[in-house]
Amino acid sequence: MNYPILSFYKTLFKRAFILLFIITSSCKTQEQPREAEKERGLIAQKAMVVSAREEASQIGLSILKKGGNAFDAMVATEMSLAVSYPFAGNLGGGGFMVYRKSDGESGSLDYREKAPLKASKDMYLDEEGNVIPDKSTFGAMAVGVPGTVAGIFAVHEKFGSLPMKEILQPVIALANRGVVVTKKQAETLAKYREKIIKANNKDILFAKEFKAGDTIKNIALARTLQRIAENGRKEFYQGETGKMLVDYLSEKGGIISMEDLAQYKTFWRDPIKVEYKDLDIISMPPPSSGGIVLGQILKMAEPYPLKDYGHNSLKTIQVLTEAERRAYADRSFYLGDPDYVNIPTDTLLSDSYLNGRMDSFSFDKATPSSSLEHGEIAGYESNETTHYSIVDQFGNAIAATTTLNGAYGSKLYVDELGFFLNNEMNDFSIKPGFPNMFGLIGAEANSIEPGKKMLSSMTPTIVEKGDKLYMTLGSPGGSTIITSVLQTILNVSEFDMTMQEAVNAPRFHHQWLPDEILFEPKAFDAELLQELKDKRYNINESNSRIIGKVDAILRLPDGKLEGGADRRGDDSAAGF
Ligand code: GLY
Repeated sequence: MNYPILSFYKTLFKRAFILLFIITSSCKTQEQPREAEKERGLIAQKAMVVSAREEASQIGLSILKKGGNAFDAMVATEMSLAVSYPFAGNLGGGGFMVYRKSDGESGSLDYREKAPLKASKDMYLDEEGNVIPDKSTFGAMAVGVPGTVAGIFAVHEKFGSLPMKEILQPVIALANRGVVVTKKQAETLAKYREKIIKANNKDILFAKEFKAGDTIKNIALARTLQRIAENGRKEFYQGETGKMLVDYLSEKGGIISMEDLAQYKTFWRDPIKVEYKDLDIISMPPPSSGGIVLGQILKMAEPYPLKDYGHNSLKTIQVLTEAERRAYADRSFYLGDPDYVNIPTDTLLSDSYLNGRMDSFSFDKATPSSSLEHGEIAGYESNETTHYSIVDQFGNAIAATTTLNGAYGSKLYVDELGFFLNNEMNDFSIKPGFPNMFGLIGAEANSIEPGKKMLSSMTPTIVEKGDKLYMTLGSPGGSTIITSVLQTILNVSEFDMTMQEAVNAPRFHHQWLPDEILFEPKAFDAELLQELKDKRYNINESNSRIIGKVDAILRLPDGKLEGGADRRGDDSAAGF
């Protein structure tokens, strides 16, 4: 029987089905290209090293391939950076490492430099109490007692699985064989050459005019590393190397003694742990400000729907800027070496405190920094310091950031030993209210005392999701380190980017003082910047510089690893 009404419904149903099919397939075709368009970094099945130089990533990886773990690879990568990236990689500086073992145990190591025993609060001031130009940044008085060699031995002693000699062997071979100069490296060497000659003399290795493609063989560094491989930690802190270093520094008018070296200590510290939505952030505690400031910004931003606002949208920039402004103001006042000052860490990271901090924020207009605190304005330097991230085939992860502070540190190069010395003393608050080379203002908590560690912004960070490793990352960039790490985490977790896209994305930064938002040049829309200006934000896009240089690893849902090596530098991921 033919029921016209039934046939009408049949036709209607058929058409509705076809329409639904068309809609769902068109949705799919819209999604698929987006997935295909996504830019992924290197993908590895099991293990990865991402660092500032290909040579360092490859040597770190070779240690993993031999069966070494992430901690062995950390030692190899750290030392390979000293050979291949003397701009920031070092034996004459210090750093921080955060780790997460495959069983979920986490911790951190402080191998930061410290003030010499002869240091004093006003050592960079003249008789009238004025800051003596360059004294805390250039030459022997700028140098803090180095911690890097103690750092690699502390890591190796606690977690290493391969003999130190075996780990250092490829690094020594690299120093002997030499490193090919990249275009970017040739540019930085040329930029700082005159200063390096001024601090030393024209006969040292780095006084030469290196061009891209030249090979730098550092035989003196190979010999130093060989002695360290043979004699251990004491070679640097009590042995021939230490003695050569102290003699060299006193010849240059420095105050570091054999006693300073002998007393140098690393510290295993409980990391800062902060929950942000479904993520657990594990980051560096004081004497780095990184973990606390990162945690404060994330917690202050958490109530706002950043994902709905959109990546680098007006509202997202406002929320992050205002949270950064408040967190950096706290940094300036409260943070310093925890062995010398009491830091109210729990309060600074508590919801009640942080909710109150954002009470004065409105989307209508900027909160002037002067209404939070006052300070001077200074220029910014760029991406000194270097970070590397490692995940091994056993599931252990590390994030390590190491530094000489400024580019090539104090510019002092111990030619006999083959390495540069830091100018980390400038990270102290050398005079209340006087900005350091990153424009950061400090207070009493970060004043100079003998043996004290200077406050840092280094933010080696590991992120967990659902109790599993999710990401390991960090960055150079002085005061901009924290906000570079922040934006990279948010780019993945809020804005659905791949690891490589998250690292590539343009960045901005606010640090309370100077009261301005720093934007990466030519990366932000003029209309957006005008809207911010209309809301009384001060915009600084004119300092032509990059912000941060993030090296990160993301664990994908299928367990593979994606590297994010920052193209702002020569950074490189290696994996298997
Ligand atoms: N020297 C840079 C920092 O430690 O933050």
